[in-house]
Amino acid sequence: MEIDLISDTVTRPTKGMIDAMMQAKVGDDVFKSDPTVKILQEKTARLFGMEDALFFPSGTMANQAAIKLHTQPGDKLFCDKWAHVYNYEGGGVAFNSGVSCKLIDGNRGMFTANQLQLAAAGRADIHVPYSRLVCIENTTNKGGGACWDFEELKKIKQVCVDNNLGYHLDGARLFNALVTKNETPNQYGALFDTISICLSKGLGAPVGSILLGKKEHITKALRIRKLFGGAMRQIGYMAAAGIYALDNHIERLADDHSKAKTIESLLKTLSYVKKVEPVETNIIIFYVKDSLNSDDFISRMADKNILLTPMGDGKIRIVTHLDFTEEMLDKLLVEFSSFQF
Ligand SMILES: Cc1ncc(COP(=O)(O)O)c(C=O)c1O
Repeated sequence: MEIDLISDTVTRPTKGMIDAMMQAKVGDDVFKSDPTVKILQEKTARLFGMEDALFFPSGTMANQAAIKLHTQPGDKLFCDKWAHVYNYEGGGVAFNSGVSCKLIDGNRGMFTANQLQLAAAGRADIHVPYSRLVCIENTTNKGGGACWDFEELKKIKQVCVDNNLGYHLDGARLFNALVTKNETPNQYGALFDTISICLSKGLGAPVGSILLGKKEHITKALRIRKLFGGAMRQIGYMAAAGIYALDNHIERLADDHSKAKTIESLLKTLSYVKKVEPVETNIIIFYVKDSLNSDDFISRMADKNILLTPMGDGKIRIVTHLDFTEEMLDKLLVEFSSFQF
């Protein structure tokens, strides 16, 4: 039994999901004639109370399209120093949009409205790039699945309005935050100009992300998606997986969170663990003591078929997901407890 906790993207479609995919009615989505894609887009737009939605092959492409539609080359955006759009999208902000990032020194991937206000203040003359966009990530990936305080997000919105900045949410794991904090998609839809959500992370679909926004944003996004090479043909098979995921896999995220909490509780008692970051959703980040090499720990766990991610400086990441069963959790608890160093 392999226990793959590298990411929540490692899941395989369930039987129900495969059945839904096999029964999907499809057409050529580049000609806007795939009925299942239309259903998925309408369903998500309705769910978030936003005007329109567009299906993308990946979260990266949805974020990059959002950045492109809000900006012009030479502009700058504001994001946390740990943001996915800055760190893990291959430099796409610069490559695709010719935009620079002003990084904010936040906490676990999250900054405050005051920090944004300070970053946005200052001279606005010909030497300085135009400020155009703020990107938020909820939950934060590098921040260990941390969830933003919604009141702070509202204050940040006010700074955006005051400074004429677009407001984009990278919601690759937004549903994890909604489930944990008992929030609704509508709250987020009313606050942000554009939102990307991933169907292929905690929700368990094999592929797909959605970009949500006003009609004018999504009209631009459609052209940008084509430009990026992301316009797809009989993609209703994948949209069907997304519809199934939205109907069946949101509430169950609470199981992933509860398993993550169980692992957190154990880690806190282990002599070889130095620190565990607070666990709010499905990501656990912990540090082993300096006397234990984290790569050794990871490779000895790999020998037991437990796969973890090294994050440098003694930091290790675990991500729980749909395919991580109770039996696997029990085995992990036993192996962690009995580990000798
Ligand atoms: C916060 C965040 N945003 C965006 C992405 C990009 O998603 P994809 O891998 O579908 O391009 C990821 C992927 O891990 C992510 O964690």
